[in-house]
Formats: sequence, structure tokens, C-alpha cells
Amino acid sequence: EQALFTEKPLSGLKVLVSAGPTQEALDPVRYLTNHSSGKMGYALAKAARNWGAEVTLVHGPTTLPPVRNVADMPVTSAQSMAETLLMYVEDSDLIIKAAAVADYTPIEMAAQKIKKSEGEFQLTLKRTQDILKTIGERKREDQVVCGFAMETEQLLEHARAKLESKHADMIVANDLREHGAGFGIDTNRVTVLTAQGEESLPIMRKEELAYALLERCLTILKEKREK
Ligand code: CTP
Ligand code: CA
Repeated sequence: EQALFTEKPLSGLKVLVSAGPTQEALDPVRYLTNHSSGKMGYALAKAARNWGAEVTLVHGPTTLPPVRNVADMPVTSAQSMAETLLMYVEDSDLIIKAAAVADYTPIEMAAQKIKKSEGEFQLTLKRTQDILKTIGERKREDQVVCGFAMETEQLLEHARAKLESKHADMIVANDLREHGAGFGIDTNRVTVLTAQGEESLPIMRKEELAYALLERCLTILKEKREK
């Protein structure tokens, strides 16, 4: 499949992609997670590979087959995703955070299976590290960092706040209310935000959208490197 692509606009570049959900263990048999399928991140990894990049894919548990000729790094918790990604950041040109990382994790994992008892049960959670923000704050002038934003209201306001607070170069904003966007399905409809402004893209298959997003990341990378 790779050989079919004669144009390799990302050749010589290292691309780091995160994809899928995380799993936060409560006890040996239970965990907290979300509906992320990993499809968007896997599509980005595959597209970057087809365009000639050396790709590392750090992903939470998904049912997707591994992407050929991509370094596959499976992780489970938000913390393990953070630790793994941070090992590769320095050596990457383009970092794309498509993973749906848990914002909270149990204060501690019970060593034994939690037994039920009468009445209500309360779970106490603590915040996880904001991986995108950590990477954004550390990024060099010659690196491009792209995040996603999943919203159900005030899409552009919230996505722009994330672009700024996380020091990202680009945020791909998904509106979960939008038909044909979001978890589990094969299409997405996004708005791309950068320091320059906003661009609403038409509904596309995730495979096709991946190239559109990589193209925009590459434009930003070239602009930064020309300076
Ligand atoms: N993200 C991250 N680490 C976290 C949480 C989120 O790296 N602990 C990244 C996601 O991978 C995504 C971006 O931040 O690229 C935005 O995620 P989102 O859940 O939309 O935003 P949050 O900043 O977590 O804010 P909230 O969930 O409150 O809207
Ligand atoms: Ca979140």
C-alpha cells in the first residue's frame, strides 16, 4: 500500500501519534474508560507512513489491527501514555494527540477486588497529567504540536481556549452533536484552529481527513522552519 504513494511529503520527518482511549484501573477487574475507537489516530499514523514519515503510534486499548511499518506502542493508563509519549517527544518533528485521555483516575487502585456492600459506593478520583499541555509547554521552535478537542457546546470558544492554554500549534475541534462526527464512526466533521484562524472542513472519511490534517501540520512546520 505504501508503495502506491509516489509523493512522500513527510519523508525525513518523525511523526508521533497518540490514539484511542485510556483505561484507569479501580481494582484488578474494573476500570474507567471512554468511547474512543482509535480510528482517527490510526488513520493519521497510516497516512503519515504513506507520506514517507517514520511513525510511532502510542495507543490505548483498541480493537484495530496494528498499522504496518509503524512503531506500535500499546499502553493502558493515562500515566503510562504520558510516560511513553514523553520518551519520543524530543526526537519528533510532528506530534499529534488524537487520544482520548482520561482526565481523572482513581486515587489508588485497590489491590484486591472491591466487594459490594449495602448502600451507596463513592469513588474518589484525582486529576491525570495533561499530556498535550506538557508537550506544548516543552515544544521547540522546530516542532509542531497538534491536539484535538471534543466538545458538546461552544465548540470554537472551548477549542480556542485549548489551543492557547496547551500551547498547541493546531487544534482539531469535533462537535459531538454534529451528525457524522465523533466516536466509533468512520467519518468526521471538524474545524481546524490555528493562531491564524479557523477552517471548517467538510464531512470526510477519517482516512481522507488524516491527509487533510497532515497537510495543514506540514504547512505550519515549513513556516516555522523558514523563520
Ligand atoms: N489531553 C491530554 N491529556 C489529558 C487530557 C487531554 O493530552 N490528561 C489532550 C487530548 O489528547 C486532546 C486534547 O488534550 O488532544 C483535548 O482533550 P479534551 O478532552 O477535549 O480537553 P481537556 O483539556 O481534557 O478539557 P475538557 O475534557 O475539560 O473539555
Ligand atoms: Ca478531557
